[in-house]
Amino acid sequence: DDIPVITIDGPTASGKGTLADEVAKALGFGVLDSGALYRVTGLAARRAGLDLDDGTAVAAIVPTLDLRFADGHVFLGQEDVTARLRAEATGLLASQVAVHPAVRQALHQWQLDFRRLPGLVADGRDMGTALFPGAPLKVFLTASAATRAERRYKQLISKGIPANMESLREDLEARDERDKNRASSPLTPAQDAQLLDNSALSIEASVDQVLNWWQKRR
Ligand code: C5P
Repeated sequence: DDIPVITIDGPTASGKGTLADEVAKALGFGVLDSGALYRVTGLAARRAGLDLDDGTAVAAIVPTLDLRFADGHVFLGQEDVTARLRAEATGLLASQVAVHPAVRQALHQWQLDFRRLPGLVADGRDMGTALFPGAPLKVFLTASAATRAERRYKQLISKGIPANMESLREDLEARDERDKNRASSPLTPAQDAQLLDNSALSIEASVDQVLNWWQKRR
């Protein structure tokens, strides 16, 4: 528990990934994009033709996943799955498999293994509540649904991935509902989390706020 961790949880497209990357860069820490693990699990389960409602079957493929993070890209075996993972359809697959306690359990230790010196910034839904409850700084990041849909839209378009604003917003809201209402590690702020609404904040301002909290951490 001596290795410092900053957790950043919050709803879909609230800017967790960008904030986590920037804070990690500033502090020289590593990053855990826990959503990528759920996304790759959902994708692999779908490709294997599994019933996504069968938590035991989906959990069983987790140990077989050959996943590698390199220079901002994600490889599944030899395949660069970066763009496929970011697609909104894959986000929906992820949230479907993420409801199963067996799947969350199968991903638990893998996520803990990302905690290495000199420190970690972990982003997801349950980093502060389930994975790293003792983290000295926990951030719960929010933004309005309209802001989030717009950001996700721009993000996808800039990567050359086709997107539709209306259906994006519907997808985000469906995913948020499922994440908040599931029984196993639902999306909710840790009791001691710092709340940050970045709807009207620049990325720099959000990063500064988190670095400021980090300097004043207990
Ligand atoms: O953060 P991202 O959008 O990549 O996450 C995709 C989905 O994976 C989320 O909607 C959520 O259902 C699930 N997830 C989770 N717990 C995490 C990270 C992601 O349940 N720590």
